[in-house]
Amino acid sequence: MNILFNDSSVTVAIVGCGGFVGCHLLDAVLARTKWHVFGVDLDFYRIQHRLNDERCEFMVADLADKSVVERIAKYPVVVNLAAICTPSRYMAEAPEVIRSNYDHPAALVDACAKSGSWLIHFSTSEVYGRTSADSGLLVEDETELTFGPVTASRWSYATAKLLTERYIAGLKNLKWTVVRPFNFVGPYMDFMPGVDGSGIPRVLANFSSALVRGEPLKLVNGGVAKRSFTSVFDAIDFLFALFEAGQMGRASVLGTAAHAACVTECVAEKSPFSQAFNVGNPDNEITIAELACKMREIFAEIKGIPLESIPEPEKISGVEYYGKGYDDSLRRLPSVEKAERLLGFKAQTPIDVVLRESLTWFVMHYGFPNH
Ligand SMILES: NC(=O)c1ccc[n+]([C@@H]2O[C@H](COP(=O)([O-])OP(=O)(O)OC[C@H]3O[C@@H](n4cnc5c(N)ncnc54)[C@H](O)[C@@H]3O)[C@@H](O)[C@H]2O)c1
Repeated sequence: MNILFNDSSVTVAIVGCGGFVGCHLLDAVLARTKWHVFGVDLDFYRIQHRLNDERCEFMVADLADKSVVERIAKYPVVVNLAAICTPSRYMAEAPEVIRSNYDHPAALVDACAKSGSWLIHFSTSEVYGRTSADSGLLVEDETELTFGPVTASRWSYATAKLLTERYIAGLKNLKWTVVRPFNFVGPYMDFMPGVDGSGIPRVLANFSSALVRGEPLKLVNGGVAKRSFTSVFDAIDFLFALFEAGQMGRASVLGTAAHAACVTECVAEKSPFSQAFNVGNPDNEITIAELACKMREIFAEIKGIPLESIPEPEKISGVEYYGKGYDDSLRRLPSVEKAERLLGFKAQTPIDVVLRESLTWFVMHYGFPNH
């Protein structure tokens, strides 16, 4: 264990600690470091097994609450994962989505700027906007960011996330890093509609739910859009590479008076500070139709049933499936050069492994005996 991870005086605040990424980050911090965790979320149903851990303090609270924000910003490292981030909600609840992805994090940004905490803020690959089928690698500091019209409320999420990024980058005295996830997948992602959540979950949980229920997978607009799927465990390794690189600013991370020196250091070459990072796996790029195909095959193997017994996927229009305001980006291929150059990080897990791991967990967790 390196010096930073061995330091039991460090407490990391994880906001959105009970969510998909948060529960994996919590497990990893407890397993790989001697740090303490201050976890905040609206609920903690995914992490019941951790609630009595002596290195953790959990608070059921809303980031909208200013007193909670002040409390979070007392800690030297703040990872903000909290967000409404389910596509079906972007169409139906744009104002709430914007408040969740701009207003609430902006208050936390201000508080961290005041306290000197290192804010690691989770944004999204959706900030690259309405990419076309032939768009190439998306590069953090080069690619143009173009969204669809305001009548397509699907862009409410991306717009709010991007505004928060700009707000963060505009504050001179904030120590920050922005993370842009590209389709993280793995155990504990989202929910099964009607069992532990309602509405439409993200694609992996959506397809997994349909397979478990023996229903056809719905290919929105033919499933021609491409995505690069990334293991959530690779994403956690990215965060550890980031924490490690943060040792350069260790004095500030640990809350001593070296804040001014640290801000100077932020612009230094190879610094993880004042940077937005893509976190993705370009080797795992597939169309959604190919994803459906792979998931059917893996599900048949896991259950030991013939592939033909699983319903064929069905095509459906985006508006029919998600409602008015639907729009999409057709390709999202991350450049991962920056994370490799500055942090020495590259996602490793191949798509088939990621999908098998995720689907096996889903089947065991929800365990429906209908096949
Ligand atoms: N998982 C991905 O592939 C992906 C892709 C793009 C962006 N992101 C971003 O990464 C972050 C984490 O994503 P995730 O997949 O873990 O999402 P998630 O929905 O599983 O977790 C988010 C957590 O934040 C909590 N939360 C929401 N609003 C809150 C509030 N006001 N106060 C306190 N807690 C609140 C939720 O209860 C939830 O547990 C999000 O900011 C998301 O926008 C994730």
